[in-house]
Amino acid sequence: MIWTVLLLVLLYVLATHRSRSKNDPPLDKGLIPWLGHALEFGKDAFKFLNRMKLKHGDIFTVRVAGHYVTVLLDPHSYDEVINDSDSLDFARYAQVLMERIFRLRLPHHQSNKEKAMMKKHFTGMNLAALNSTMSRHLLALLKAETPQNQKHWKDEGLFNFSYGLLFKAGYLTLFGGEQNNNGSDPSRVYEEYKKFDGLLTKMARGTLKTDEKRTAHRVQQRLWELLAPAGLTEDDGSSPWLHGYRQLLQEEGADDDTQKKAVLMQLWATQGNVGPAVFWLLGYLLTNPEALTAVRWEFSHISQVETSDTPLVDRPVNTPVFDSALEETLRLTAAPFITREVVQEKTLHMADGQEYLLRKGDRVCLFPFTSPQMDPEIYHEPQKYKYDRFLNEDGSAKKDFYKGGRPLKYYTMPWGAGTNGCVGKQFAIDTIRQFVYLVLTHYDLQLCDPHAPMPEVNANRYGFGMLQPEGDLLVRYKLRSTHQH
Ligand code: HEM
Repeated sequence: MIWTVLLLVLLYVLATHRSRSKNDPPLDKGLIPWLGHALEFGKDAFKFLNRMKLKHGDIFTVRVAGHYVTVLLDPHSYDEVINDSDSLDFARYAQVLMERIFRLRLPHHQSNKEKAMMKKHFTGMNLAALNSTMSRHLLALLKAETPQNQKHWKDEGLFNFSYGLLFKAGYLTLFGGEQNNNGSDPSRVYEEYKKFDGLLTKMARGTLKTDEKRTAHRVQQRLWELLAPAGLTEDDGSSPWLHGYRQLLQEEGADDDTQKKAVLMQLWATQGNVGPAVFWLLGYLLTNPEALTAVRWEFSHISQVETSDTPLVDRPVNTPVFDSALEETLRLTAAPFITREVVQEKTLHMADGQEYLLRKGDRVCLFPFTSPQMDPEIYHEPQKYKYDRFLNEDGSAKKDFYKGGRPLKYYTMPWGAGTNGCVGKQFAIDTIRQFVYLVLTHYDLQLCDPHAPMPEVNANRYGFGMLQPEGDLLVRYKLRSTHQH
């Protein structure tokens, strides 16, 4: 018996043994068999990748839980990965999570169709309709938070305030459901979703403890029940996008089980990032009075000529100061991995002339948070929030950033890039602008402790999109007297 086990272990080690050959990127397997660097990677990917970058440079291959992942950190070379759809299969954002959590893979041809369908629903006239529904829900939810004639301050954690309101408004806009209707009350969905989101990184890494596994199972069941009716019929109050997505799944023969998992992943992809982004933006504005004054000043010039409550919905408005403040926020807090699977051997040409071989079956991963976003060669004092970093002297949007003396095509990448970039980008920006406008012009909002610093980042979430804080930032708010309803 013992010999059989030893033989199996030996065969396994031989079969998975890998050494570096001449054209491979530097290989770092870590000390633990199979797991490799998985623990350090999961604990704080930013720190780990910075350590590897110092040791190996801008490209290296690490072993992570049985997979070999080649990490590329030179933004001048990112197009080699982003634009190659022949050798590299895009492992999509939500798709990667679906696979890890549910062991479920949708066929590739479906994802191409899905992408086209999504683009259609999130641009042009459809976007205008989404914006106006979203704005209606945001106003109603904000009003519900501050009962009529309330003259007193209301205290709340800024993260909970932002995530809660934006999740609920986004859910009502895209998934339907009604306020105070038991079946699909957005507050109930939010409560369950928050628990799901809290366990998400552990689910994806397979590191749930026994009791957490039970909670995760229960929460998923509840969310599936709550989401079950969403998008099934054209007139159920959900968006045409969700209905179209359901139809596509059905045409492809996806069974009920697959559909419910896919719809849950879409809830995560569409609602998981905007709330946290608004939290960081409002947090940075509140802790940087100069930035807050500049954005307020810009907004006040819009509201002087407008009478409607939601002037930003009907037509495009030029808000370069706000745009820069948002871009700077996302530079500091958007940290997705851009991942691809190598489906056929590929020679990767680095911008500096070096060439490396990518092996079939491996993964390639870009982490734009490390570079360009936090790269001191590109951004002076990269840890600091400077609201006007993306503004030129003349007030126009600044787009020229350099590394190694050469202009960068990708100087921040919160939305991913290329054909696989975020389809909801414009909708997300419009929503954030709309919400921040409402809060800053209709409400008085301040820090409970005027000297409170921004909370630290939860380091487990590097790679999962928008970062989230460790703890919260306490704020208080009340309706401005000129806007008492
Ligand atoms: C601040 C807000 C947001 C950020 C930072 C963000 C970022 C991203 C990123 C980085 C990706 C992956 C791109 C890639 O893999 O190369 C993505 C995908 C996607 N985003 Fe966004 N996003 C945001 C908001 C939204 C919103 C509001 C929607 C829709 C209403 C949306 C819909 C999607 C969809 C459908 C995908 C594709 C997911 C899939 O793989 O199936 N996103 N987003």
